[in-house]
Amino acid sequence: MNKKDKFYVTTPLYYVTSEPHLGSLYSTVLADILARWNKVSGKQVFFLTGSDEHGQKIMQAAQKVGKEPKEFVDSFIESYKTLWKKYDIDYNKFIRTTDDYHVKAVQSWISDLIKKGDIYKSFYKGWYCTPCESYLTDNDVSESRKKGNNVPLCTVCERETAELQDESYFFKLSKYQDKLLDFYKKNPNFVVPKERLAEVVSFVKSGLKDLSISRTNINWGVPFPGDDKHVTYVWADALNNYITGIGYGQKNKQEEFKKWWPADCQIMGKDILRFHAVYWPAFLMASDLEPPKNLLIHGWITVSGKKMSKSRSNVVEPNELLSDYGADSIRYYLSRYMAITQDSDFDIDDLEKRLSTDLANDLGNLLNRVIILAEKNDCLNVKPAEDWSEESKKLQENAIQAIQLFTKHMNEFYFHIALSHVWKFINQVNAYFHDQEPWKQAKLDKKQFAQIISATCHSLYTISVLLWPVMPKKMSELLGALSVHFDSNALEFDVFLKNEWNNTFTLKKIEPIFKKYVSKKKDSSVQEEGKEEVKKDEYISIEDLAKVELCVGTITKCDEIEGSDKLFKLLVDFGPKGERQILAGVKKFYDAQDLIGKQGVFVINLKPRKIMGIESCGMMFVAEDEKKTMQFITVSGPVLSGQKLR
Ligand code: MSP
Repeated sequence: MNKKDKFYVTTPLYYVTSEPHLGSLYSTVLADILARWNKVSGKQVFFLTGSDEHGQKIMQAAQKVGKEPKEFVDSFIESYKTLWKKYDIDYNKFIRTTDDYHVKAVQSWISDLIKKGDIYKSFYKGWYCTPCESYLTDNDVSESRKKGNNVPLCTVCERETAELQDESYFFKLSKYQDKLLDFYKKNPNFVVPKERLAEVVSFVKSGLKDLSISRTNINWGVPFPGDDKHVTYVWADALNNYITGIGYGQKNKQEEFKKWWPADCQIMGKDILRFHAVYWPAFLMASDLEPPKNLLIHGWITVSGKKMSKSRSNVVEPNELLSDYGADSIRYYLSRYMAITQDSDFDIDDLEKRLSTDLANDLGNLLNRVIILAEKNDCLNVKPAEDWSEESKKLQENAIQAIQLFTKHMNEFYFHIALSHVWKFINQVNAYFHDQEPWKQAKLDKKQFAQIISATCHSLYTISVLLWPVMPKKMSELLGALSVHFDSNALEFDVFLKNEWNNTFTLKKIEPIFKKYVSKKKDSSVQEEGKEEVKKDEYISIEDLAKVELCVGTITKCDEIEGSDKLFKLLVDFGPKGERQILAGVKKFYDAQDLIGKQGVFVINLKPRKIMGIESCGMMFVAEDEKKTMQFITVSGPVLSGQKLR
């Protein structure tokens, strides 16, 4: 990796009408993770965030509380900066659209485009949404009218719009229609996830009208150069922050600007896609600048299915989450379980479950077990093995695979998939540790014992470097327990990729780094196995039955799951259909040894799902006897594994 490679990442600029909420935190956390990841992988990084402070929305909010707009926005800046600090958001610059250098650069951008003929004066008549600061197109209006609205509703926030008639300056957006379509064609990955590009293309194809970029009915904005009556439309002002923040329009900063532009990734929610994927590249094209390389468009965080927003009064306060869960756990949950590709509900019970299983059980326990065992057997100084066992070599290969897959998905901005590969590896390390039985080897073969501890420490090192961008504090603690001093800028990523397992570690006992939460809701993980009542009056057809693929499988492995007193993790052989991992809630009724080698009846086309963070790809049939003991359903004589039931 070339250290000279650069990575420039931005967040949207937040409207500072109140304190930041979890939605604002989400875009910012994703940007920080990306910035940190690119540092780890050897790039020079610039990370820009800030505040959007002009426009009618801010002006009205300030009026409501009887403040001047500037005084009003000033009052929120510290709460943003403080929150970012608490969440370890390591930005390089916080731009405010009221900053003098930005205002001047926007004015000179406008003057240049007037000279070029891309901005002209005319008259605007149409509908305007103040909460979104956006003009409705003819299509938006006709869609809204179809739903029977006299006053069209905004297509994004669904609130009432207002009619606007105003003398205005226009940007010649229509002139860029073909150029934009050509750009999308040549850059199919411009928008991530790329499925979202389709709506942009269809919007542009439906015909672009010139864009009104000034207003006379408000005075809170960048003064329009050469015309005192007008102020600049807030989006024409704010979008330019991405270039003014790195030196555009400032004579002494031209080198800096050339170094960082074009942006490598601009992150935002789906509500502001049109501004960024249509207006923004057109503005840049007009100034002979390249569009950004990628726009990462995430879904919304919802509460009971509704977008979290101040106006709906359903916001989750990120400050409140800090005391209960800590910054790193929230960063992890947001990036792993609020998948960028869709809207995701934020649910405290789910959060606690994920933190307990993924962080405390899967990862935290692994670290604790290694340290305790190493200490007990006087093996805190860990050296690389002279001879790795076959199982350890396999684990080393698994680590390389995890690094490669994590790298691929992080570079494509699919955080949740990248993280799932780390967890697959964590589960492999747990399985390795369990199968190798180091507690027995400690008595039988010291060398073998030391080798297992070393392989596990090397694996923990890999895991913590990969997870550092997501959980910088916790992973620094974990690395500290291995006595590794970690500096993201100094990591030799090429060496890390090779994963040669030639490190020495000194294990240090530390307090558990992750906390477990006791679920307030009843654990439903086992209930579905055979407990649903049959609705007697609803017959199903034979075709319905055929949809359920029932097979005989042979249980080849049965493992306990830490933290669960109900579940076993089974490996089940289905002959030609392969092996599957299936979780079964029978731990209370059987010893693991009793199940191995037994044949049972399983549904194998049930949608895979995760229970306590572990995937289950099927379901074992059980029935409760009169003593309330679960009996698993078996066959009366040996049957080939994978045989279908008929
Ligand atoms: N000021 C404009 C952006 C200008 S960028 C030149 C703006 N500000 S905003 O404060 O309303 O939103 C900023 C970001 O927060 C957007 O990416 C938006 O999608 C995100 N979120 C606000 N609420 C959200 C959720 N409930 N969920 C996820 N993100 C959402 O738009």
